[in-house]
Amino acid sequence: MNHRDFRILGLAGSLRRASFHRGVVRAAHEVAPKWMSFEGFDLARIPYFNQDIEDQGNPEPVKELREKIRAFDAVLIATPEYDYAVPGVLASALDWCLRSRHDPTPFRHKPVGIVGASPGGGGTARGQMVLRQILLHPPAYVIPEPQMLIPFSAQKFDAETGDLMDEDTRERLRRFLSALAQWTHRLEEPMKTDRDGPMSG
Ligand SMILES: Cc1cc2nc3c(=O)[nH]c(=O)nc-3n(C[C@H](O)[C@H](O)[C@H](O)COP(=O)(O)O)c2cc1C
Repeated sequence: MNHRDFRILGLAGSLRRASFHRGVVRAAHEVAPKWMSFEGFDLARIPYFNQDIEDQGNPEPVKELREKIRAFDAVLIATPEYDYAVPGVLASALDWCLRSRHDPTPFRHKPVGIVGASPGGGGTARGQMVLRQILLHPPAYVIPEPQMLIPFSAQKFDAETGDLMDEDTRERLRRFLSALAQWTHRLEEPMKTDRDGPMSG
């Protein structure tokens, strides 16, 4: 694999101060391999979607988020499962970013990894299926495997800070980021062939 500087943008679907998913985004920054750079974007800056506002143009933080998604090689979405689905905070941010009203959606053909932690044994499996369905719209290319489910979160995170403490899970997250980079490179190769044409060279 080409070890150029690979850039991942991290989004957390919870605004809670000690959110475990904000903790996952911080941990991803810490465990990312050296050849990768990882940056988070705080969804607290994104207003609720309102088409009246969109009619007048996207708000500045929405423009910034859309530009970052476009510029980065891949996006990591760390989100809780809410009501067997995804939190409104994430759904609203995606509403802004999946639209192609003023310019094409930056999620089109964007490699995406999903990670979630739950108090029970499900590890956000149901919520992740909903998010995969939402991301079929652009379409974004969500990595099919490995799946990054974190069950029994109370045993793995610091309840006071939201920090991801469990070493096995941190190692799994590091491998997941590498797998996301590999997935992205696999997608780039056929696109390059498409662009150059199979007979070129
Ligand atoms: C409104 C709401 C709905 C929830 N629904 C689910 C659910 O469907 N499945 C689940 O496993 N946990 C559910 N939970 C529990 C969350 O998984 C848990 O609070 C999680 O830690 C929230 O993520 P955070 O720590 O990043 O804030 C729900 C929590 C809230 C506040």
